[in-house]
Amino acid sequence: MSKIHAAITAVGGYVPEYVLTNQELETMVDTNDEWITTRTGIKERRILKGEGLATSDLAVPAVIELLQKRGIGAEEIDLIIFCTTTPDLPFPATACILADKVGAKNAWAWDLQAACSGFIFGLTTGAQFIESGKHKKVLVIGADKMSAMIDYTDRATCIIFGDGCGCALLEPNEEGEGVLDSILKSDGSGIPFLHQKAGGSLKPASHATIDAREHYAYQEGQAVFKFAVTNMADVAAEVMERNNLTSKDIAWLVPHQANKRIIDATANRCGVTSDKVVVNIERYGNTTNATIPLCLWEWENKFKKGDNIILAAFGGGFTWGSVYVKWAY
Ligand code: UT7
Repeated sequence: MSKIHAAITAVGGYVPEYVLTNQELETMVDTNDEWITTRTGIKERRILKGEGLATSDLAVPAVIELLQKRGIGAEEIDLIIFCTTTPDLPFPATACILADKVGAKNAWAWDLQAACSGFIFGLTTGAQFIESGKHKKVLVIGADKMSAMIDYTDRATCIIFGDGCGCALLEPNEEGEGVLDSILKSDGSGIPFLHQKAGGSLKPASHATIDAREHYAYQEGQAVFKFAVTNMADVAAEVMERNNLTSKDIAWLVPHQANKRIIDATANRCGVTSDKVVVNIERYGNTTNATIPLCLWEWENKFKKGDNIILAAFGGGFTWGSVYVKWAY
């Protein structure tokens, strides 16, 4: 019997309606469209507005779309891996909340936290359950309501992030398509440069932590940029080399959308021309766990069966990595 791989058989996506433009940000903090565009490539991002709406509410429409496209019911899902840095609640897992909302009664469901690398960590984890023969349908979701943890008085972070969700279904494939290889890494010495100071067990929420604005994302952009720009590019090149892939063999490069300059550096390092690089950062900004699955969702109609696709991400932790996928439909 040929080896079982975990193929992506459907994708779904959702971005909220509200568009936060660079022009609107100009009215909120001391910034300008020219600076944001040249330094990041971002023009606008989507924000989930409204009382009582959370990350799981971004995931519900994305998952429903995926199920409809694949023509299956939610009760057929065996496992849900919900990759997020902005869970609805500290506990229980947003995966359980989502499963209840969509009626995935037969799935075991849990969250995965690897910041912006979450989706590729989740995809690789989910693939193991398919390859082992344990499960037939694994749903991997990348979703974040970043607007819930962004300080809109801090121009260094508020211009970057947006809200959104993308998801992918993994199913067994014996024709050599699917998640074929992954290299994933982490280095906790990066914690000082990108983290949330309070709200965890180290520093539970208190009046003092709120007054000190410690519940927002904290980032030292330049330090993160330097680490990201080399490591994301290197690991993508490493996956290609390990699988004897040259730039000619690559149909698409799907990089995490954190900064257009990091995307360009990764493409250059891999020798991939810009027409093969999936980029939507100008419209959505950095949606953290959602960037890569949102790219898959938007480019799905351009992908062809057998396409070699390289995913690459970098995020808080630090975490980073690259996944080689052969598209299955
Ligand atoms: O997805 C998770 C991983 N995260 C990343 O990969 C993000 C990596 N980092 C970055 O993308 C970039 O570092 C940023 C976009 C965050 C910042 O860009 P930068 O080119 O590194 O700018 P900088 O922080 O070095 O700041 C340059 C200047 C500073 O002014 P001075 O000190 O030179 O006078 C900043 O105060 O730009 C100023 N600045 C701004 N000016 C206008 C910082 N933010 C803004 C702003 N508008 N929004």
